[in-house]
Amino acid sequence: MIIYFSATGNCKYVAIAISEKTNDKIQSMIQLNNSKEYTIQLEEKEDLGIIIPTYFWGLPALAKEYLTKMHIETKNKNPYIYAVSTYGTTPGGSIQIIDEILKKKGYRLNSKYSLRMVDTWTVEFDLTKEENINEFTKDTTKKLDTIIKSITEHKNEELTEKTKGKLFYTMAQFAYELERKTSNFTVDDECISCGMCAKDCPVNAISIENEKPVWKNDKCLICFRCLHRCPTFSIEYKKKTRKNGQYTNPNITVFD
Ligand SMILES: Cc1cc2nc3c(=O)[nH]c(=O)nc-3n(C[C@H](O)[C@H](O)[C@H](O)COP(=O)(O)O)c2cc1C
Repeated sequence: MIIYFSATGNCKYVAIAISEKTNDKIQSMIQLNNSKEYTIQLEEKEDLGIIIPTYFWGLPALAKEYLTKMHIETKNKNPYIYAVSTYGTTPGGSIQIIDEILKKKGYRLNSKYSLRMVDTWTVEFDLTKEENINEFTKDTTKKLDTIIKSITEHKNEELTEKTKGKLFYTMAQFAYELERKTSNFTVDDECISCGMCAKDCPVNAISIENEKPVWKNDKCLICFRCLHRCPTFSIEYKKKTRKNGQYTNPNITVFD
């Protein structure tokens, strides 16, 4: 089984690419979390793959919470478990955090991978230019092939980019908590009241009131799915993201 968290499609793309070679089924952590399915049942020889994006050198809050609550049910004492962290600039401590969570459950990551893809944190990154997208993705296909080969051969290896020390990635998690305020989002008059943002939100943080999105929770994942998927690009974060454009993985059409 492969479980993934994906706001804008990169991790879902990776999950699908791996599953095409391993024949493992894929499951969205967002859906598993919403239906409170915390038990992951593995056949005796079944592998477990965990695919997540890097957020503030760590994990999206929902992924961290889900992995912490997750219970692995298997007759195999040592199932082959691997994790892939996608990232744009540095995977920080995202893989180490998954390993720490699994160790507390008596498991360990056999293999650790990171994969550079387009950085969807458009507070900082300009995704309006094709050359910027190409720079992020120039090594993605080759590295993904290497990762898939390693997984299918059940290798025990670490193919990660430079990671950060524990002090750095622990501090970055405080920064994530500070940024997660929904009051940072605004919507402009181009909004057509389609309701996609509310329907799409992984943590149901948005409702439509007087034909406009209202962020009803204090905190969200700041996954930017609402901002990147808005058909009229009406949603902005801290008035910093408009100039940098929208991005979702071009191979993905269903965001679950
Ligand atoms: C809130 C947020 C924080 C992010 N933080 C980091 C980061 O610390 N380091 C990094 O390299 N990429 C970071 N990214 C980029 C994502 O990890 C990357 O674009 C990922 O592939 C997105 O996966 P998805 O499309 O499956 O959601 C961040 C993106 C978001 C939305």
